[in-house]
Amino acid sequence: MNPITRIAGAAVGSTVFAALLAAGCATSPSPAELDAQARAAVKASFRDQGIAKATRIDQDALQAACSSDKPPNEQLVEQIQADAMRSVRWPAGGQYLGDWRAGEKLAQDGRGMTWTDASDDPKGNGGNCYNCHQIDKKELSYGTIGPSLWNYGKQRGVADPSSPVSAPIVQYTWAKLYNAKAFAACSTMPRFGYKHLLNEQQMRDLMALLLDPKSPVNQ
Ligand code: HEC
Repeated sequence: MNPITRIAGAAVGSTVFAALLAAGCATSPSPAELDAQARAAVKASFRDQGIAKATRIDQDALQAACSSDKPPNEQLVEQIQADAMRSVRWPAGGQYLGDWRAGEKLAQDGRGMTWTDASDDPKGNGGNCYNCHQIDKKELSYGTIGPSLWNYGKQRGVADPSSPVSAPIVQYTWAKLYNAKAFAACSTMPRFGYKHLLNEQQMRDLMALLLDPKSPVNQ
């Protein structure tokens, strides 16, 4: 599902277009005024519906920094990444891998977070990975916003994910899934753990899909 549909489950009303037209007619508004008008127009176009609250359109500090007309400077990038890294919660009992079969289902499932869902518990969500990544050679279609994850573990020499030799790549992959901004401040990849889009067990299952030598990803 695309991010816009995820935002509020409510259609963009005609008010947004009316407001943008009106903005166009004003006498040379400053960029700051235009920003404020655009924000107000977007805000007026969404409403709470079921579990989909209109607060989903409120940007946090890093989203604002990454949505500006200028990319964040080096110092801000480092700060955003360090904050994101600190947000990572490591899996209980140091257990990083679950079941790749469950991970495969999650990776190919893009549903969840819509206003018709009874609860915002992540257990009803898919991971939506296929929308941005190639995962498996048998996929008929997949997105290319992110790099291919085909042979992810194999290419990185992961023969036994529980061996200490594999620890750096296992930990990197967990942190990437938990909060992708830890390694790329303005990454478009969802922050699955940090934003409670997936729970710990779902993340373990996706880890197994990527890193278990028996997973179809590594065949
Ligand atoms: C909206 C697009 C998007 C979605 C959905 C997405 N990713 Fe990503 N992912 C990216 C992008 C873009 C990158 C490249 C690095 C970056 O910008 O963060 C990436 C990088 C990665 C990496 C690091 C690859 C490397 O070589 O270091 C892994 C692992 C990964 N994604 C796994 C996943 C998994 C698993 C899912 C599903 C739970 C997923 N991604 C969902 C966009 C996405």
